[in-house]
Amino acid sequence: MDKLIIHGNVPLRGEVRISGAKNAALPILAASLLTPAPVIIANIPHLHDVTTIISLLGQMGTRVTLDECSNLEVDASSIHSYHAPYELVRTMRASVLVLGPLLSRFGEADVSLPGGCAIGTRPVDQHLKGMIAMGAKIEVEKGYIKARAKKRLQGATIVMDIVTVTGTENIMMAAVLAKGRTIIHNAALEPEIEDLANFLNALGAKISGMGTSTLIIDGVDELSGGNYQVLPDRIETGTYLTAATITRGKIKLKNTRPTIVDSILIKLHEAGAHIETGVDWISLDMKDNRPRAVNLSTAPYPAFPTDMQAQMMALNTVAEGTGIITETIFENRFMHVQELQRMGAQISLKGNTAICKGIDHLIGAPTMATDLRASASLVLAGLAAHGETSVDRIYHIDRGYACIEEKLSQLGARIHRVSN
Ligand code: EPU
Repeated sequence: MDKLIIHGNVPLRGEVRISGAKNAALPILAASLLTPAPVIIANIPHLHDVTTIISLLGQMGTRVTLDECSNLEVDASSIHSYHAPYELVRTMRASVLVLGPLLSRFGEADVSLPGGCAIGTRPVDQHLKGMIAMGAKIEVEKGYIKARAKKRLQGATIVMDIVTVTGTENIMMAAVLAKGRTIIHNAALEPEIEDLANFLNALGAKISGMGTSTLIIDGVDELSGGNYQVLPDRIETGTYLTAATITRGKIKLKNTRPTIVDSILIKLHEAGAHIETGVDWISLDMKDNRPRAVNLSTAPYPAFPTDMQAQMMALNTVAEGTGIITETIFENRFMHVQELQRMGAQISLKGNTAICKGIDHLIGAPTMATDLRASASLVLAGLAAHGETSVDRIYHIDRGYACIEEKLSQLGARIHRVSN
């Protein structure tokens, strides 16, 4: 298993390019199942999760090819299987995103029910409720969601009980080829949902209300092919900005989108960062100062993202003052706390709240990643710590951060990967 070895206490300096968004690329690739015509998708990040969804699409009969400009051409004209096996779904929950497209285009899908994961139980009841409202028959049998639609799905008015990102995406994809109008109330507002809707509209779907909590989807008979460019990754953006803040550095991020990271920029500004933005770039300068602790509570977009909570916790460990972080989305997303404590962090947990008293510096230690964003927080802590930190089980980070050690090295970090 690979490990990252970091020699910390080096301010990050320089420029780095942000990759396409994992959480937009995954639903967009799943949505390409909705059309028999080829689609060409640009700005796909090189990530393990992307490889997983490509294998899943491949098993179903989709042809996926990489062109000379690193664009993916996806051709789902000859699908022969409507099955997403346990072996793949258990490695990536987002595989459940094939349910809506398969059911809508073929009237049939057998998708392994994703189990719980390290950060929470994460049920998919809202996905299923939406599809049942559109006329699907759904049974859970031997660990599989068996979804059938004898005739075309019917448009329906759906009120989501809770705000769910992939739930909104799955229902939106199912509705695109349904007969009539579907209205999704209490839809999630994440920019990746708007990106998916823009992709589908580029293929001829009729989706409106993007960026609001009510999405209106007028079903069409079929979708065409097309070209699309995935939006930049806002969590990768926030992670690199936090890395520069925690190391008292100065960096510029290119190929990003400042308008989708407002809540993160506001917190980093509170931490003392000097931030400038352009249409597709962000620069951040700590002017060699120690960061200040920040308080935050995670919540659905546009509030502060749960996917940045662990990284901000790392920041608070070495900040001036005491920071209070409340996690409201997932019930078990504090697994990084024990690892940060092993580096000397002073964090106490009370239910879903972490109270962190900043110390002068962390001391490098061997650590273990438990999930994707937790591993990012350990890397950030290692970059700021005195001495050597190792981060084991780094396969978690490869799921969501493209070329992380190359990008951090480019910014002057002393980091390398070793294989045990
Ligand atoms: N939930 C239900 N029932 C459902 C669906 C969700 O109770 O049917 C609950 C979940 O258990 C959770 C809350 O609703 O407590 C919100 O979960 P959501 O469905 O929004 O999460 P998700 O769609 O499974 C996506 C991202 C996650 C990100 C969350 C929250 C993708 C592929 N994944 O997950 O990304 O944390 O939204 O923003 O888009 C990551 O990238 O590290 C990651 C975990």
